[in-house]
Amino acid sequence: MTGPTGPADDVAGRAAAAFTQRYGERPAGLWAAPGRANLIGEHTDYNDGFVLPFALPLRTVVAAAPQADGRWTVTSELSDTPIEFGADAIAEPGRVTGWGGYVAGVAWALRDAGHQVPGARLAIASDVPIGSGLSSSAALEAAVLAALVDLGGLDLPTQRGPRLAQRAENAYVGAPTGIMDQSAVIRCRAGHALFLDCRTEAVEHIPFDLAAAGLAVLVVDSRAPHRHADGEYASRRAACERGAALLGVPALRDVPVTDLDAALARLIGSIEAPPGEDVEVVRRRVRHVVTENQRVLDTVELLRAGRLRDVGPLLTASHASMRDDFEITVPEIDTAVEAALAAGAYGARMTGGGFGGCVLALVDAERADAVATAVTAAYAERGYPAPGFHPVTPAPGAHRL
Ligand code: GLA
Repeated sequence: MTGPTGPADDVAGRAAAAFTQRYGERPAGLWAAPGRANLIGEHTDYNDGFVLPFALPLRTVVAAAPQADGRWTVTSELSDTPIEFGADAIAEPGRVTGWGGYVAGVAWALRDAGHQVPGARLAIASDVPIGSGLSSSAALEAAVLAALVDLGGLDLPTQRGPRLAQRAENAYVGAPTGIMDQSAVIRCRAGHALFLDCRTEAVEHIPFDLAAAGLAVLVVDSRAPHRHADGEYASRRAACERGAALLGVPALRDVPVTDLDAALARLIGSIEAPPGEDVEVVRRRVRHVVTENQRVLDTVELLRAGRLRDVGPLLTASHASMRDDFEITVPEIDTAVEAALAAGAYGARMTGGGFGGCVLALVDAERADAVATAVTAAYAERGYPAPGFHPVTPAPGAHRL
C-alpha cells in the first residue's frame, strides 16, 4: 500500500475505493488497525493481571475526511446501508446500535474526555473476521479513533487510546470487556508480543520472532458459533470479583501463585459466602486466574531467554485451565487443540474470550501444513464444518498508512 489509492483487492485499496465511490472525492487519509491473537493470559485483564497478545496481519482500514457540517457519515463493507449521525447521537451512550455503535462510541468517548471531535466521512473495509475472537471490534474502534484524532488534530497520547476505546465498548456499546484487546490493537509492535500489566498499563515489547526460530503459530478458526458468549463472559467476570471480595483483595492479581492453596482453602470455609452460593465454582475461577497470571510471567521469561519452543507446555496448560476451571471452551475448540497436539504442535490453546473463536498452536514451521491437515481431518471425523486458518506474523498496532 503506497497511498490512498492502493490496489482494490487490498483492504486499504477497498477502503479508499469505497470512500471515493460513496463521497465522490479521495479520502484525506487511511488509518489501519489490526486484529489480535493472545499468546497467553486469558480472562486475566479484568482481574488487573497480565496478558501477552500480538497483532495479526489482518487489518481494518478506515478511509476518512473531515465533514464540514460536524456530522458523521459511515459506510462499511459490513452493511449496505450507510450510517449517519450528529452531535445528539454522541450526547449519551447507546443512541447508535449495531456496528455503527463502535464508531459513534469512539466519538462519544472522545467528546466525553473533553475533546472537540471533528465531523467526518468514513469508509470502512476489513479483513478481520467478525465473531472469531480476533478483536474485530477493537480493530474498528482503534482505526476510527486514529482517524478522528488525526483529522481533528486532537492531543491524545497513544497510551491513552486503549482506555478511551475500551470506554466506547464498555459504556457506549455495553460490552463489559477488559483492556487487553484495545491495548493490543493500538500498542503492539511488529515482530513482538505485548507484555501488558493491566493494572498499571505498563508495557514491554517482547521479541517474538517465530521465523528466526523455525517456528510458526497457526491460528485455527474453530467456526464454532458463539454460544451465549456475552452472558457467560459477564458471569465469569462476576465470579472473579466475588472471589476477590471473599479473599479481601482488590483484584485476583493480588493473589500470588505461592498463596493459591491457602487462598483456595480460605474460600472453602469462607464465612462471608451465604448458604447456597456455589463456592466451588468461585474456587475454580480463582484457580484459573491465579495460575494463568503465573503462566504469562513464565512465558515472558522463556521468550526473553529465546526459548520459544519451551512455551508450548504453558500454552497447553492454559488451555486445560480454561477448559476445566474456567469452563469457557466448546467441543470444536477442544478438538482443534487435541488434534494439533497429536500432530506434533509444541503447545495449543484457545485464544480470546471463549465459547468459540480461535485456537493457536505453536508448531515447527515445516509442520504447519501437516498440523492444519490433521485439524481439518479431526473436524471432518466429527462432522464439524471445516475450520479456517489465518496467517500469523506479529504485526504493528494502529497507524496511519
Ligand atoms: C475478550 C475481552 C478481553 C479479554 C478476553 C479474555 O477478548 O474483550 O478484554 O477479557 O476476552 O482474555
